[in-house]
Amino acid sequence: MQLIDGKAVSSQIKKEIAEEVNRIREAGGKIPHLAAVLVGHDGGSETYVANKVKTCEEVGFQSSLIRYEEDVTEEELLACVERLNNDPEIDGFIVQLPLPDHISEQKIIEAIDYRKDVDGFHPVNVGRMAIGLPCFVSATPAGILELLKRYEIETKGKHCVVLGRSNIVGKPMANLMMQKAYPGDCTVTVCHSRSNNLKEMCLEADIIIVALGVPEFLKADMVKEGAVVIDVGTTRMPSSVTKSGYKLTGDVRFDEVSPKCSYITPVPGGVGPMTIISLMKNTLLAGKKEIYK
Ligand code: GUN
Repeated sequence: MQLIDGKAVSSQIKKEIAEEVNRIREAGGKIPHLAAVLVGHDGGSETYVANKVKTCEEVGFQSSLIRYEEDVTEEELLACVERLNNDPEIDGFIVQLPLPDHISEQKIIEAIDYRKDVDGFHPVNVGRMAIGLPCFVSATPAGILELLKRYEIETKGKHCVVLGRSNIVGKPMANLMMQKAYPGDCTVTVCHSRSNNLKEMCLEADIIIVALGVPEFLKADMVKEGAVVIDVGTTRMPSSVTKSGYKLTGDVRFDEVSPKCSYITPVPGGVGPMTIISLMKNTLLAGKKEIYK
């Protein structure tokens, strides 16, 4: 069994991005600038956004954090999106999800200029990804592809089972694993909370990507010997032993599943660090106008 070290890979990519920013600076070019919009004070969102801003600093990007209280109106938020769309200083921006119930997430996402949508959530980017055109690919699936690539994991002709059908991970992941490319060229099955034969499907899988948000869902008796297992779960479970008071728990029962795997991602330190670095890569592409002019 080989552990897929997302922390090490993300550190390496961080260095590569920082070197590129240095080259841009030396050539007198524009330093990429990411803006993040954060509504309210959800603990998870606060942590994610703080990490995004911190990583911007580490790679040498400019960053702006725009905060609103929980009671911000949809109109105010739409006006903010419009300002960022029209601000030539901002190369890309994200609106951290989830948003409060009185705001339509879809309306906000669709208001973002797709050329600045470094989250890759806008229907133009999702559609272009689905038909294999250059676009911003959302960060978690992009990070997983990068891990498969850097560990040179064979994907052609393999059976990949994706557990979960969210717009952010499951759906784009399934699409990317079936694309005519490397990583890709898989036969893909998507299972979800209403699937009847999930266990049988998993037992057939050469690669299992678990993105259900159900702690320790995947057990040893669901995994074929030699499978590759990618764990996207990051549920915060209360813990009395950590300083933060919680422990990140994956969707895989790691202790019993890992001995059966050829490769497996741990939680934390697997997919998580790759997600932020993929956002940085998209911001770099946005700054260099490499995808859209
Ligand atoms: N909430 C959970 N993951 C994400 C993400 O990748 N981007 C944004 N904007 N919100 C999220």
